Amino acid sequence: MFSEKLITRLKNAYTVTVLTGAGVSAESGVPTFRGKDGLWNNHSVEKLATLEALEKEPDLFWQFYKWRRELLKDIRPNLGHYALVDCENYFEEFTLITQNVDNLHTKAGSANPIELHGNITKNRCTNCNDLTPVNCIEEEKEVPKCNKCGSLIKPDIILFGEALSQPVLGKAQEAAAVCEVFISIGTSALVEPAASLPYIAKGNGAYLVEINPEKTPLTENVDEAVHLASSEALTNLVIILDRLR
Ligand code: OAD
Ligand code: ZN
Repeated sequence: MFSEKLITRLKNAYTVTVLTGAGVSAESGVPTFRGKDGLWNNHSVEKLATLEALEKEPDLFWQFYKWRRELLKDIRPNLGHYALVDCENYFEEFTLITQNVDNLHTKAGSANPIELHGNITKNRCTNCNDLTPVNCIEEEKEVPKCNKCGSLIKPDIILFGEALSQPVLGKAQEAAAVCEVFISIGTSALVEPAASLPYIAKGNGAYLVEINPEKTPLTENVDEAVHLASSEALTNLVIILDRLR
């Protein structure tokens, strides 16, 4: 499953960085974006995930996001999320970067995941930037408004056409640049700027690993591709790390 070369790299590594995508949550029952039943396969849905939709059709926008939150309500982290929590124990520096907005890494217990695309369990005001947890919005209102200034609020996630937070992206790029091993897990490796992180790592000498049952545009550029589901691969990785200790 993992090469001797990778195991040696991990044994000697001080700094390891991981990037996750929707595939890591797939085994918890969260739909991915581009797969067979992917959320974005329905283009009217893709159009809803924009600031313009929030401004023009706020009730429809919020129907969509309340539905996505409803989907996540009873969802639990899976073995892959928990294995990534364990990984924190084996390295001096372990950074988890995620494109997922589902909060499952935090729910599993990961200390400080860098959430590149935000977190759907929080809301942010489009005017004053006030950040509130979801339970602070008045659920009965179809279109929630900011408690402080009364403006439209949005889920605290990056919508289509929006730029990522520069400080958050900067931290992720730094973690990619300094690591000795970089592992890309469960992402189609298509969406920028996240898709560039593995190349930043490789350009700075990291050993590049991909865990994904399918091939992606990244696959031919990695040092090692593991074509397995993330829960299986990561559970095994933790067993190996445990033996190395
Ligand atoms: P995608 O839906 O594009 O890709 C999911 C990847 O997970 C695919 O490559 C699958 O092969 C893989 N996969 C499926 N099941 C898996 C499993 N059990 N174990 C490991 N891998 C598995 O999702 P992302 O790459 O995360 O952005 O998409 C990136 C961004 O595009 C998302 O964060 C979202 C979307 O637009 C925003 O919402 C801003
Ligand atoms: Zn406000």
